[in-house]
Amino acid sequence: MPQRPPARASLPETVLLAATVFLPTAAQGAILRRPRMVRLAAGCDANRRAHRTLAHLRRRHGEGPVSVLVPGRRVLLLLSPQDARHMFTATPATREKAGGLHHFPPDGALIGPTESRPEQRAFNEAVLDRDASAHRLFPALTPRIPEEAQALLTLVGSSGRPLHWEDFSAAFRRITRRIVLGDAARDDHRVTQLLDRLRADADWLTLRKPKERVRDAFLARVRAYADSAEPDSLAALVATAPCPESAEPLGQIPHWLFAYDAVSIAAYSALALLASHPEHAARVRTALDDADPAQPATADALSLLRACILESLRLWPIPPAIHRDTTAETTWHNGTTTPADTTVVFYRSFFHRDPQHLAHADHFEPDAWLDGRNDDNWALAPLSHGPAMLPGQDLVLYTAATLLAALLRDHKALLLLPRRPLAPPLPLPHTIDHTSLRFALTPK
Ligand code: HEM
Repeated sequence: MPQRPPARASLPETVLLAATVFLPTAAQGAILRRPRMVRLAAGCDANRRAHRTLAHLRRRHGEGPVSVLVPGRRVLLLLSPQDARHMFTATPATREKAGGLHHFPPDGALIGPTESRPEQRAFNEAVLDRDASAHRLFPALTPRIPEEAQALLTLVGSSGRPLHWEDFSAAFRRITRRIVLGDAARDDHRVTQLLDRLRADADWLTLRKPKERVRDAFLARVRAYADSAEPDSLAALVATAPCPESAEPLGQIPHWLFAYDAVSIAAYSALALLASHPEHAARVRTALDDADPAQPATADALSLLRACILESLRLWPIPPAIHRDTTAETTWHNGTTTPADTTVVFYRSFFHRDPQHLAHADHFEPDAWLDGRNDDNWALAPLSHGPAMLPGQDLVLYTAATLLAALLRDHKALLLLPRRPLAPPLPLPHTIDHTSLRFALTPK
């Protein structure tokens, strides 16, 4: 039977896609968020414009995937959950990511050569305890996270000014260093600065040469922590998980360090959602009040907060898209076929807010993560989906939920900026500038 190619975006549609989807997404930074660009994007709600463009493509071409002419590349935009399911149950990461992440030492799971990816994946799953009901570090982390929350509350209280993103982010980075590298790294801002420089270059893909000296200095510090790893850190678990040297176990550490930045953005945005939805904040507080004072939070409070983090990532996914390169000829749900080495794009920001596949697309609905409404919905991938689901998801949600629990236990968060709550009757924006959010944290 002759093979049928997917529908193709016309020239005006390609220009519209470049202007409203590809360029704004790249400008905000995939690996290190660029605050000025994030602010600009939020100012014009860039993701809403991208959403309109993709909805227009679907009206015009139907639910099948649409191919886009990008110089030197075959790009395919998915527009239906059936095709998303197909993408998530196959193939590894894209060339753009690989190009950018080559700035890092040595090879991380997202960029490792294809032949060592299964070993790297298995190694990551082992260290991050993918299949356990709770990560083995939770007991050790449980006091450290509230300690950092307390330090943050003291800082905000003594400064007499509202909670700013810079303070929250600095506290979160301390938590991250303690989890990944150990307590000795708590105040090692230098290691984070070096990583930020590598990340900033990585966002230019192959257009910038990797900075060898920065890379070496960063790696030397990471090695030093790994060589004398504290028992209650991810660095210590590196030595315990099976991994051939060729799969570069140490090379996974930079990825864990920088991936935690997305967790801090999701947690801070979730705080804004809770401050804007007092009914949900009251439920969290009631569950926290029931907690044993020796424990930071009850299971109920933590599961509701975990759902709030997932909801924050659904409403404002980081990054907005997941890309894959197909490794074989692929047939999509409408019978169209694409050759191997096609870059497939799942634009999360479109799917997660698509009323066609989600009744609560534009509402904050944390309960949908608890009562099964979001189960098996392939339009949703806040932490990816299927076999490539982020192996550290439990650690991610636990860290963020435990921090929010510690902040909200004795304090109320009042959203000061933006001045209007992120709640009805105003529609929730598709783009959020987390750096501009401000909160008054007042004792209960
Ligand atoms: C909110 C925070 C995070 C988000 C939204 C996120 C999201 C993602 C996404 C979308 C992928 C690509 C999956 C795919 O291609 O389908 C990924 C991969 C990965 N993430 Fe995260 N991530 C986060 C935090 C973390 C953290 C904190 C860690 C480690 C401690 C981590 C470890 C990994 C690893 C190891 C992979 C590669 C998985 C593989 O090779 O299959 N992530 N993450």
